[in-house]
Amino acid sequence: MEPTLEGGVEVHTYLGPNDERTLADDVLDGLTRPLKELPPKHLYDARGSALFDAICELPEYYQTRTERLILQTHADDVVARTGAVELVELGSGSATKTRVLLDAMSRAATLQRYVPVDVSATTVHAVAELFGGEYEGLSVYGVVGDFERHLGHLPAPVGPRIVPFLGGTIGNFPAGSRRRLLRSLAKVLAPDGHLLLGTDLVKDPAIIEAAYNDSAGVTAQFNLNVLHVLNRELGADFDVPAFEHVAFYDRTQEWIEMRLRATAPQHVRIEALDLDIEFANREEMRTEISAKFTHERLRADLAAAGLELVEVFTDPDELFAVSLARLV
Ligand code: SAH
Ligand code: TRP
Repeated sequence: MEPTLEGGVEVHTYLGPNDERTLADDVLDGLTRPLKELPPKHLYDARGSALFDAICELPEYYQTRTERLILQTHADDVVARTGAVELVELGSGSATKTRVLLDAMSRAATLQRYVPVDVSATTVHAVAELFGGEYEGLSVYGVVGDFERHLGHLPAPVGPRIVPFLGGTIGNFPAGSRRRLLRSLAKVLAPDGHLLLGTDLVKDPAIIEAAYNDSAGVTAQFNLNVLHVLNRELGADFDVPAFEHVAFYDRTQEWIEMRLRATAPQHVRIEALDLDIEFANREEMRTEISAKFTHERLRADLAAAGLELVEVFTDPDELFAVSLARLV
């Protein structure tokens, strides 16, 4: 007999003072490369998380509403087939789509625990409070942590679990680290859990490019926000308005590439690193990739991590996919 949880909200934090070190190391490493680069997880401070929520509401950003529609269509089926009693969600953010799954588990009367995992402390606390109050008897175990480093700290399963990893976040990792992340995630599924993986699909590049070049300029603000993070956290002196947002679809790699371009030569001092960097006129640094998937790429990446596809759910236009997968 599995233990039955009684409800209650707790949040565990695994990000500490050392994590400024991670940011410092990432920046030192990335900005001294021949092609400058910044790792994307630093986009999500409190302001970055709020801007991302605004992106999700943009007319051009079809991902969020399409993924929600797919979840609404198949949630009851997924809950019945997995027998899930808990959700362990990676990169949960403000978890608006997660409600669709929690509601389905409520209807099935199987819902016991929700474990949101995110580097953004503000969103984990907010979601934990909100859902803890809203879902009768739900136990919430929030984790403020990095899913690349802290998955070993997750609580043991209380029964079959679904691990939602939504929003196309897996696409922000290039193929090698993507497979490494899926492999470590496979351990979170043991013994009888299912992964529910949201991925954007390969399609007409014009549709994809519009989603990352919205007319209201929210994506540009989100991308530029990483410079504010470096100014604040590392004592850098980036002149933010001197950089512009660039996003384009690389048809060979089948990914979106997000960059920041210096609109004039720039000298930047990063005090915490005792580092001076030069940007030539129009020099770009990469801030994120967002890989798009084919069914074949999905199958191959999952297989490389010891996972097998149970089913791929899509929308009628095949814009987005939500894949159910389990250990082989
Ligand atoms: N799941 C939500 C949010 C997606 S945005 C949705 O589908 O809309 C990506 C989220 O992943 C952000 O909330 C960000 O803070 C989080 N994130 C990014 N890198 C992370 C990492 N390495 N560890 C934990 N969370 C991370
Ligand atoms: N995971 C989201 C995606 O790849 C993140 C995202 C959306 C994003 N728009 C962005 C990241 C703009 C950086 C800049 O679609």
